[in-house]
Amino acid sequence: MKIGFIGAGVVAQTLAKHFMAGGHEVILSNSRGGNFLEKVVSELGSKAKVATREATAEADIVILASPWHKMKESLKGIDWKNKILVDATNQFDMSTMKIADLGNKTGSEYVSELASGAIVLKAFNHVVMDWIKNPSEDQKTVLFIAGDDKKAKAKLSTLISDSKFHPCDVGSLKDGGALLQLGGSLNGLHLKVHASFTL
Ligand SMILES: NC(=O)c1ccc[n+]([C@@H]2O[C@H](COP(=O)([O-])OP(=O)(O)OC[C@H]3O[C@@H](n4cnc5c(N)ncnc54)[C@H](OP(=O)(O)O)[C@@H]3O)[C@@H](O)[C@H]2O)c1
Repeated sequence: MKIGFIGAGVVAQTLAKHFMAGGHEVILSNSRGGNFLEKVVSELGSKAKVATREATAEADIVILASPWHKMKESLKGIDWKNKILVDATNQFDMSTMKIADLGNKTGSEYVSELASGAIVLKAFNHVVMDWIKNPSEDQKTVLFIAGDDKKAKAKLSTLISDSKFHPCDVGSLKDGGALLQLGGSLNGLHLKVHASFTL
């Protein structure tokens, strides 16, 4: 599969390495582009490419990996209809250093409103990237997925399994998303299972 990233920082680079090791291609975008991004991508290797946000959004799965306070700019101007968009963000606003107040809405529901028409899933946000930097042969980190579309969740599960992690569906975007986001009981959980574990 082709996996696009909106954002090219710690999350994008960490996940990109695992996805490429799992046989997939990655496309990275940010707001600035330029030499810095070219360098990041050339260090990742031949299965990695630079693109605009718009071109990145044409990938099979798009991962939203930009800071919360840059969310609107990160998603704007793209036709998201029927695109799989995985929200890997935490709803922490670095510009105010506060958790965003969204009322009863989850972060991913907010993302869904901005990326109108997208098939939004929540994943990857609940682990610190440092924890999953170095894969282990005998243990797999469990990566949780929330969302309302079964086919999209199956596609993301395949990507996660190919990348030597263990996918685990935690339910709908609203309820599962609430567990995964900052303040939820699964946020910050580094659960590992033996490599032979199946469920
Ligand atoms: N680091 C972790 O361990 C971790 C774990 C789980 C979840 N998260 C969450 O994941 C998100 C990303 O975290 P990170 O640690 O990867 O942050 P980061 O290292 O600061 O990277 C953020 C990336 O987003 C890009 N960006 C900023 N504005 C953008 C825009 N308008 N359009 C496209 N790209 C834009 C930045 O590049 P430019 O400024 O050049 O555009 C940069 O490449 C955050 O919401 C964070 O809460 C982080």
